[in-house]
Amino acid sequence: MKEKVLTEHFGLENLYKIDVYQKQGGYRATEKALKKMSPEEILEEVKKANLRGRGGAGFPAGVKWSFVPPTDKPRYLCVNADEGEPGTFKDRYIMSHNPHMLLEGIIITSFCVGINAAFIYIRGEYEAIALRLEQAISEAYEKGFLGKNIVESGFDLDVYVHRGAGAYICGEETALLESLEGKRGNPRLKPPFPASVGLWQCPTVINNVETISNIPHIILNGAEWFIKKGLPKDGGTRIFGVSGMVKNPGIYELPLGTSLKDIIFKHAGGMKEGKKLKAVIPGGMSAPILTADEIGIKMDFDSLVEANSMLGSAAIIVIDDKTSILDVLKVVTKFYSHESCGQCTPCRIGNSWINKIVKRIAEGKGKKEDIDSILRLASNIEGNTLCPLGDAAAMPILSITKKFRKELESHL
Ligand SMILES: Cc1cc2nc3c(=O)[nH]c(=O)nc-3n(C[C@H](O)[C@H](O)[C@H](O)COP(=O)(O)O)c2cc1C
Ligand code: SF4
Repeated sequence: MKEKVLTEHFGLENLYKIDVYQKQGGYRATEKALKKMSPEEILEEVKKANLRGRGGAGFPAGVKWSFVPPTDKPRYLCVNADEGEPGTFKDRYIMSHNPHMLLEGIIITSFCVGINAAFIYIRGEYEAIALRLEQAISEAYEKGFLGKNIVESGFDLDVYVHRGAGAYICGEETALLESLEGKRGNPRLKPPFPASVGLWQCPTVINNVETISNIPHIILNGAEWFIKKGLPKDGGTRIFGVSGMVKNPGIYELPLGTSLKDIIFKHAGGMKEGKKLKAVIPGGMSAPILTADEIGIKMDFDSLVEANSMLGSAAIIVIDDKTSILDVLKVVTKFYSHESCGQCTPCRIGNSWINKIVKRIAEGKGKKEDIDSILRLASNIEGNTLCPLGDAAAMPILSITKKFRKELESHL
């Protein structure tokens, strides 16, 4: 059985061009889905595959699609290509190496949900990739895979690329919708969820780039094959992005359930010369930190929840023994205090207050009560905000402060 799914052909020259992609079997999934399958059959297959969202929360994609209500209003698909979670760099590999795989996923998803307009919301810094996507989209129109009557199935779809302007919060799905509508990217209160009230108040599916890119493979090979690639409740592979103090940082596509230890020590080559492992952030900066003793863990959504952390965007940040945990906390708290949109008090005030305390400790002016103040402030953010950025900030701050309390106290 072939090991890789999404990255299998990444080494091929010019894979991003439609002719090369088609030579590898590209657009066969589109033909199959639009000509031989009904939307209901596609939905059933995606549900059976247990494809869980690759953007952060791990919500099953098929279940999310099934929440879209029957309505006369237009429906939309928004592909989340904001890739703002610190440490995360997987989606850009997919979009730059294999943009047509993503487009196929978009076509099949749209056909399944009854969508005729799809948007790729891409972070503004990815300008070269946005251009590549636009090039791929125009090739797909020329070959009849986009536009009117796609592969003579009677199905119409237009795809647009929309560039963000550099705010982390615009990766949060409702902030993304506001931004796409031309407004400031402030998250909306949920419910209603975007599946029923989304873009321009219409039903909208929002999925991550990697999630959508799995769809053509599920259609071609079936749900059972997909589940065997990973775990029964968590089908497929994940593209793990490993950064930090390892010998070979980069992306590694591996089955869900691969151990964190193997990813760091087998696949990423282990620690750099002379460095010892101190801690790992396993799923992008918002994920609670793990200590060196905790890396025996399996990398899938449920195992990480059990370990009080999260798989998130599967971005693994490896921290060595020479790195001060205070510096880590400084980076984390600076980021969230800067990126808070400011709508709710615990997030707006709490994050900047914690960052001020951490900076003060780093300047050698820490007070005895500072560690407890950080814990109290972060606990007051957690669960008390309008959008999940509040929790995304509080979780790493709380875990770092609790697990490395002694080291932090040594700075007071
Ligand atoms: C502050 C914040 C930032 C986020 N940034 C991203 C992002 O850059 N890319 C992404 O796919 N999801 C991001 N998410 C998650 C999205 O809100 C949403 O859950 C996801 O796009 C859904 O797709 P999925 O179900 O395919 O994972 C972010 C969430 C929060 C709270
Ligand atoms: S939690 Fe933070 S980012 Fe989210 S709405 Fe409130 S202030 Fe804005």
